[in-house]
Amino acid sequence: MAFLDVRKKIMGRVWTWTMALMLCLMAASVRSEDPYIYYTWKVTYGTIAPMGVPQQGILINGQFPGPEINSTSNNNVVINVFNNLDEPLLFTWHGVQHRKNSWQDGTLGVQCPIAPGTNYTYHFQVKDQIGTYFYYPTTGLQRAIGGFGGLRIFSRLLIPVPYADPADEYWVLIGDWFGKSHTALKQKLDSGRSIGRPVGVHINGKNGGLEPLYTMEPGKTYKYRICNVGLKDSLNFRIQGHPLKLVETEGSHVVQNNYDSLDVHVGQCYTVLVTADQEPKDYFMVASTRFTKKVLTATRVIRYSNGVGPASGGLPPAPQGWAWSINQFRSFRWNLTASAARPNPQGSYHYGQINITRTIKLVNTVSRANGKLRYGLNGVSHVDTQTPLKLAEYYGVADKVFKYNLISDSPDTAFPDLTVAPNVINATFRDFIEVIFENPGKVIQSYNLDGYSFFALAVEPGKWTPEKRKNYNLLDAISRHTIQVFPNSWAAIMLTFDNAGMWNLRSEMAENRYLGQQLYVSVLSPNRSLRDEYNLPETQLLCGIVKDMPKPPPYSS
Ligand SMILES: *[C@@H]1O[C@H](CO)[C@@H](O)[C@H](O)[C@H]1NC(C)=O
Ligand SMILES: *[C@@H]1O[C@H](CO)[C@@H](O)[C@H](O)[C@H]1NC(C)=O
Ligand SMILES: *[C@@H]1O[C@H](CO)[C@@H](O)[C@H](O)[C@H]1NC(C)=O
Ligand SMILES: *[C@@H]1O[C@H](CO)[C@@H](O)[C@H](O)[C@H]1NC(C)=O
Ligand SMILES: *[C@@H]1O[C@H](CO)[C@@H](O)[C@H](O)[C@H]1NC(C)=O
Ligand SMILES: *[C@@H]1O[C@H](CO)[C@@H](O)[C@H](O)[C@H]1NC(C)=O
Repeated sequence: MAFLDVRKKIMGRVWTWTMALMLCLMAASVRSEDPYIYYTWKVTYGTIAPMGVPQQGILINGQFPGPEINSTSNNNVVINVFNNLDEPLLFTWHGVQHRKNSWQDGTLGVQCPIAPGTNYTYHFQVKDQIGTYFYYPTTGLQRAIGGFGGLRIFSRLLIPVPYADPADEYWVLIGDWFGKSHTALKQKLDSGRSIGRPVGVHINGKNGGLEPLYTMEPGKTYKYRICNVGLKDSLNFRIQGHPLKLVETEGSHVVQNNYDSLDVHVGQCYTVLVTADQEPKDYFMVASTRFTKKVLTATRVIRYSNGVGPASGGLPPAPQGWAWSINQFRSFRWNLTASAARPNPQGSYHYGQINITRTIKLVNTVSRANGKLRYGLNGVSHVDTQTPLKLAEYYGVADKVFKYNLISDSPDTAFPDLTVAPNVINATFRDFIEVIFENPGKVIQSYNLDGYSFFALAVEPGKWTPEKRKNYNLLDAISRHTIQVFPNSWAAIMLTFDNAGMWNLRSEMAENRYLGQQLYVSVLSPNRSLRDEYNLPETQLLCGIVKDMPKPPPYSS
């Protein structure tokens, strides 16, 4: 089909969606307020044994992994968090866009941490980003010992998703595991050393055993929600004898291909359908490290309800090499005909036709100056500040806390030294921006941008040049919030900066992020308008230099 025919077809459908959307808006406007869902979380230490050896873990309401959050688009989610740990705590709702509301994003650049022995109530609204997400603690290295859990955003009944209802839904949270306390890992990083290699991999906080993790009835189809909640390693996920039909990733409904396995990079989530159509017995579910000299593997077992035997045969093999993974990335396409809600605001569907107003190239660097390990972006290694950046900006005292734009949009790729400072850039509200991630190193990278979902246009080996734009997928790239960058490779994304706030762009790898490979993007509403951004919540914790300052005048409507 010619390109233009495709366009016309898409435009026709866009019109249909617009109609559907208007109907929904009309329906919504008669409701007095969107529904609320409430959670109370008690966060404590407790004993866990993901590798079979008891160790200290972080539990939420006694659970590891933490309790799931079930939400439906437009729900107001209210979570009262009691911090019973002995150190400050913040959670981020990884991938939730928080429109107009970076106040609740849970990073140290926007929120004061919850002090030990106190509580704080998060309040945010989830929008039409139907899909699979997870939450985790952003403070210190707490994530290394738990505090993470799944977060689903279901579709409202009005908006169908492009597949039949599954018989049931199962979480699969996979991650590497270091087997050390979060304080020991943090001490290593604080002293300028690496956390080294993990000791194993877990699936839902456990590895091995023959007790079934999940049971499927023969002939039925199940939804598995898979997220890599680990610190460092890309993982390959597969289920013996069962193809994974990919239906959604990070809020985009995709062209539904079958995969023997999926490479899930740190911080990424995939939703797949699995049909129980094999001989009735047990099967292995496998997660194993990719691109590592020594491969670490976790297995769990899934059962058929009428099953008559244990899992047998060898584990299904993992793919080899980088090329396979790059090709898999390229195979992810947005299903342009799926009728589910768009994760992006109206207008972005024709992203390929919007003129780029700015190109930001971000190059990751590593430094071992004075024997101390630091990571950076474009020569700056971020440090968190006592006063959250967003609060300093809101109170008009940004100049006392940080400087904007220490880094250049088009850096030289050689950074002999790293400047250690808060790394904040600003973007003009509603600009359409291209971001290039260049990875000159030997280790794969995985980046996340809070507050947005972006079009993942290309991931390629070599160096980026403007001519490479001809390789971009400008038609049906998927819209997501994390992207991997292979060694000596680059990745390109595009997005409209239409969500006012202070947003964290970070390496999802815990070590890199903790040692500075992150920055914040300040997107200001031009006239402090309530239309663009919510006011500082009444209940927001205050700390640093703004603690006792008079509140600035609120945004106007
Ligand atoms: C969340 O939704 C799933 C799927 O409908 C359901 O099985 C599960 O029990 C729900 N969990 C909670 C805590 O409500
Ligand atoms: C702490 O929890 C109590 C309920 O136990 C609640 O009334 C209060 O608003 C919470 N405080 C914060 C700051 O969220
Ligand atoms: C895209 O979604 C439509 C609508 O639900 C569905 O019928 C179709 O099979 C999907 N196409 C692909 C290639 O996955
Ligand atoms: C994009 O830029 C081109 C060339 O500068 C211009 O002709 C076109 O009108 C612009 N398109 C939009 C949508 O602004
Ligand atoms: C970004 O910051 C620079 C330097 O402080 C300033 O001159 C510029 O106006 C800012 N731009 C926006 C869009 O806020
Ligand atoms: C405030 O901002 C909005 C949206 O950016 C714009 O439409 C409006 O004209 C602005 N108002 C003033 C008084 O500048």
